Amino acid sequence: KKTIRDIDVAGKRVLVRVDFNVPLDANLHITDDTRIKAAIPTIQYLLDHGAAVILMSHLGRPKGEVVEKMRLTPVAQRLGELLQLPVQTTADCIGPDAEAAAKALQPGQVLLLENLRFHKEEEKNNPDFARQLAALGDLYVNDAFGTAHRAHASTEGVTHYLPGVAGFLMEKEINYLGAALENPKRPFKAIVGGAKVSDKIAVLERLISIADGVLIGGGMANTFLKAEGYEIGDSLVEESKIETARELLQKAHEQNTEFLLPLDVVIADRFAADAEHKVVAKDQVAPGWRILDIGPSTINLFRRSLAGAQTIVWNGTLGVAEMPAFAKGTEDTIDILVKRTQEGATTIIGGGDSAAAVEQAGAADAMSHVSTGGGASLEFLEGRVLPGVAALQDK
Ligand code: 3PG
Repeated sequence: KKTIRDIDVAGKRVLVRVDFNVPLDANLHITDDTRIKAAIPTIQYLLDHGAAVILMSHLGRPKGEVVEKMRLTPVAQRLGELLQLPVQTTADCIGPDAEAAAKALQPGQVLLLENLRFHKEEEKNNPDFARQLAALGDLYVNDAFGTAHRAHASTEGVTHYLPGVAGFLMEKEINYLGAALENPKRPFKAIVGGAKVSDKIAVLERLISIADGVLIGGGMANTFLKAEGYEIGDSLVEESKIETARELLQKAHEQNTEFLLPLDVVIADRFAADAEHKVVAKDQVAPGWRILDIGPSTINLFRRSLAGAQTIVWNGTLGVAEMPAFAKGTEDTIDILVKRTQEGATTIIGGGDSAAAVEQAGAADAMSHVSTGGGASLEFLEGRVLPGVAALQDK
């Protein structure tokens, strides 16, 4: 794809789609500004090369209504701190005020339009809405990898009026995830966790066919254990996916892909941070108990499997990472990946909750790449074409 390096931006008003869909607490404070920081290289490059930068994003799911607590004001504030520049805002992303603000914007200045999803036309990819957005700029850049799986007016529609190129974040995401899937340095191992098999069937199928090994943890491991005939007590399980789990196990077997399930697990007497808990072998889960994390033997198994890997992709936490008693599987996996990165392996963290766990552990800079996409990186790993990427110009 063409990037901002391939175009002349001097003196132009550049309309940039970013993904500033960041988590806010009840006081509207940003609790994780990773996505804002991740867009800075593109914004800074454009400013340094003489562009006036008009940013647009969604925040949350306001469903076409103006929702006060989903305004982008806190984001503008944080962005201003990071850029050390005033960031102008508008009360609406289209209309006379947005047009006037865009028109008056000078090279080196930044404008952040209000939440795109205050208009239902954004998610409907309405052509007239897309045309009004496009009219605000001379050039269009998409740096919103996290939203690239959505065919919305600001990611797809707008490119019918203004040809688009990729920003640096978009480029980096596509390069890392793309290289891992198309041309990985081998051995290539994938770690897949998260609560449900049903969310990740397509990604598991694809990884089984291209990776040398797939390591399973998280709630979804329970469904696989049950498919193998183990009793799993009161653990979260998807009864309707046991057959699918069996087919995936069979597929891995046929393709000679290593497929690792937990050897031991942390079980608890209830789903609570202060529940009574203990480590047991996978065939020792008593009725009334539930699996909430992988155990130490499993971590060792994973460590050995990952020892020689040259490419490691990880998606989905391996236990209930938000409860300290059940976070060890996830934390130890982060440690293994940090070490493997230092030893020269390429480590790629895709997916919202595993990326958040890595951020929280302060280990993001110690990985080769932490994706800013949740749904987007999952769809990329599934091998689907992302509409926001497809809409950009080829080199
Ligand atoms: C995300 O957080 O995954 C993206 O910003 C997309 O948000 P959405 O799932 O509401 O479309």
